[in-house]
Amino acid sequence: MIVYKNVTKKYGVITAVADFSLKIKRGEFFGLLGPNGAGKTTLLRMTTTLSAPDSGVISIDGERIDRNLTRAKRRMGVVPQYSNLEGELSALQNLEYHGRLYGLSPRQRKRRSSELLEFAALTERKNDKAKTFSGGMQRKLMIVKALMHEPEILLLDETTVGLDAAWRRRIWDLLRELQKQGLTILLTTHYLEEAQTLCSRVGMIDRGCLKRTGAPVEIIREAGTVVLEYFENGETAQHFFNSHAEAIADAARLNGEFKVRDANLEDAFIKLTKKRLAD
Ligand SMILES: Nc1ncnc2c1ncn2[C@@H]1O[C@H](COP(=O)(O)OP(=O)(O)OP(=O)(O)O)[C@@H](O)[C@H]1O
Ligand SMILES: [Mg+2]
Repeated sequence: MIVYKNVTKKYGVITAVADFSLKIKRGEFFGLLGPNGAGKTTLLRMTTTLSAPDSGVISIDGERIDRNLTRAKRRMGVVPQYSNLEGELSALQNLEYHGRLYGLSPRQRKRRSSELLEFAALTERKNDKAKTFSGGMQRKLMIVKALMHEPEILLLDETTVGLDAAWRRRIWDLLRELQKQGLTILLTTHYLEEAQTLCSRVGMIDRGCLKRTGAPVEIIREAGTVVLEYFENGETAQHFFNSHAEAIADAARLNGEFKVRDANLEDAFIKLTKKRLAD
């Protein structure tokens, strides 16, 4: 279990993460949802011990991560927001290299890399340089690289940004399979569909503050399951209701065009923060 207790991180006058408290259970698939600059990467970097909080504590299974950085690191696999592949090395060499860094024996490295290349359907391309891979293939390689040392927790920072819908789904399937195998997964995203599809629980974060946590359906239910949307005074207005009938009844007061539709996580986020997740 990962526990954040009153974690705060400042960069000069900017508070990137503010008094953040959260518990993520073993085996959970948790999504941190927030717009650009919300503090998602800062939180992941602190979790993976790349930077230290100014105050507050992060612990895994009751042990503070700053007490034993090496042990904490071994338990986590990290897929950062930007590529961490060696472009001039082959897919296999990238995995081998990671295995060496984590002290795996040659036999372990061989077994693990061939298992993972197979899992990611990259075996045929294993001897090709990483830089020749498509964006989606590189992302898959980054994920299996993070798994080389058999971590219990996988942390992914905006893993599907820039990928087309088909590749995004392939990555989602891979992650679902990993969770089924027992991995705890924490990902950050600003794609509401990603959070809604994958995560058993999400946390909505805005300007470093955790605004709300819960299962996507719970969060939507709380905001209102139906949205009445219309354009007024140069902007889109949204009102929330618990049924289509109520929304349509309310729309009777409007003169112009309107739309009544099911609410999604993004609507709930906008209601909470008055901000969109992504443009
Ligand atoms: N090394 C740094 N030095 C100064 N300010 C930083 C640093 N890292 C992050 N920040 C600031 O902290 C805030 C949170 O940034 P962070 O990268 O964690 O957001 P994010 O949610 O990951 O955003 P994005 O969706 O764009 O990746 C931002 O205002 C950012 O400018
Ligand atoms: Mg980020």
